[in-house]
Amino acid sequence: MNLKIALLGGDGIGPEILAQSVKCLQAVEETFNHHFTYTEGLIGAAAMDKYGSPLPEQTIDLCKASDAILFGTIGTLKYDDNPSAKIRPEQGLLQLRRELQLFTNIRPVKVFPTLVNKSPLKKHVIFGTDFVIYRELTGGIYFGEKKLSEDGTVASDLCEYSEKEIGRIAHLAFKAAKNRRKKLTLVDKANVLETSRLWRKVVTRISESYPEVQLDFLFVDNAAMKMMLDPNDFDVILTDNMFGDILSDQGSAICGSKGLLPSASIGNEHAMFEPFHGSYPQATGKNIANPVASILSTAMMLSHFGLNEESLAVVIAVDKSMRKNVVTKDLNPSSKYGTSQVGDFIAGNIIDSDENLNYNYENIGLGRSTII
Ligand code: IPM
Ligand code: MN
Repeated sequence: MNLKIALLGGDGIGPEILAQSVKCLQAVEETFNHHFTYTEGLIGAAAMDKYGSPLPEQTIDLCKASDAILFGTIGTLKYDDNPSAKIRPEQGLLQLRRELQLFTNIRPVKVFPTLVNKSPLKKHVIFGTDFVIYRELTGGIYFGEKKLSEDGTVASDLCEYSEKEIGRIAHLAFKAAKNRRKKLTLVDKANVLETSRLWRKVVTRISESYPEVQLDFLFVDNAAMKMMLDPNDFDVILTDNMFGDILSDQGSAICGSKGLLPSASIGNEHAMFEPFHGSYPQATGKNIANPVASILSTAMMLSHFGLNEESLAVVIAVDKSMRKNVVTKDLNPSSKYGTSQVGDFIAGNIIDSDENLNYNYENIGLGRSTII
C-alpha cells in the first residue's frame, strides 16, 4: 500500500518520539512491502516562532493532501506560564481538529500485563483492564464562545452541542461496542447540564438501532471514582470533549505511565494519530521520553487502513520491549535505554517479526485483535 503521511512533531518531546514512530513505520514498509512517504509540517510554538501562527496555511494544506497525520505533542512552558498570551500553541491543535472535522477521538486504555506492577492501583483491580474512550473532539466547551469582560474580571466559555454532533460519534461508539463486549457507558453530568441531557436523549434514541449493546449512564464524578475502583467494568465510554480529556488522562495514569497510550482522531475525510500525553517540556532533547504512545499510535494508523497484521507486528514488538525491559526511565528508573534506543529495539523487532508467528497472543493479553 502507498500512503502519504504528514508528520507534525509539534513542541517539547513531540519530534523525538515521532522520529521513533517513523523508524517503526520504515520497518513495516521493509517487512511488509509497503511504500510510505513522509512530509514534515510545523504546528504549535515552533510554527508561531517561524510564521507567527500556531497553524500555518502550509500545514493545513499538507494535512489535507495526506492520507494520515501523525501528531507528536503540543505546548511549551513559555506560554503555560503566561495566562495573558493572546495566541497559544494549543490553538494550533484545536484548530486542526476542527478544520479537518476530526470529531471522534478514540482512546484505548489497555493494561500491558507486563506492566501491571507499575500501576498505582492494586494488581487485582487493574489486571485485565481494557476499555476505550470515545471522546467528542470538535465541539462542546472547547469551541464555544469565549468571553472576558473589559475589566478582565469575569470570564465565560460556552458549552454547546447539537443533535448532529452527538449522533455521529454515538454511532461510531455503538459500532465499536458491538465488536467488543457490547457495553456502552455514556458519561455526562445530566443532573446539572442541559447539554448532558441532550446527549442522553440522542444516545438513548440511537441505542434502539443497536439492541445487542447494553447502554448505561454514569455521571462524570462517579465515573472518575469508578475508574479507580473497578476499571474492568468499562467497555466503551462515550463522552463529550472536556470529560473525555480529563478521563483519558486518568485512564492513562492507571496503566502505569502517561507515556504508553495512543489515540486516533477520526473524521469522515481525515484521520490523525496522536499520543494521549502532553509535550513534557522538561524532558525535551534529553532522550528520556517514552516513545511507546507514539509508536502505538502508528499501530492504530495501520489498523485504520486495514493493515491489521502490520499493526499487530508493531504491538508485539512493543510488548517484547517491555518483556525484555528495554524501556525508558519512567518504567524502570535504572534503565540505560533512552527514547532512541527503545525506538531502535522496537523497529528491529518488527523487522524480525517472522519470529512472532508463533508468539503467544493470549500471553500478551492483547488477543489477536490489535489495540483498537
Ligand atoms: C489532549 C490534550 C489537548 C486537549 C490539549 C493539548 C489542547 O490535552 O489531546 O488530550 O485538551 O485536547
Ligand atoms: Mn488531554
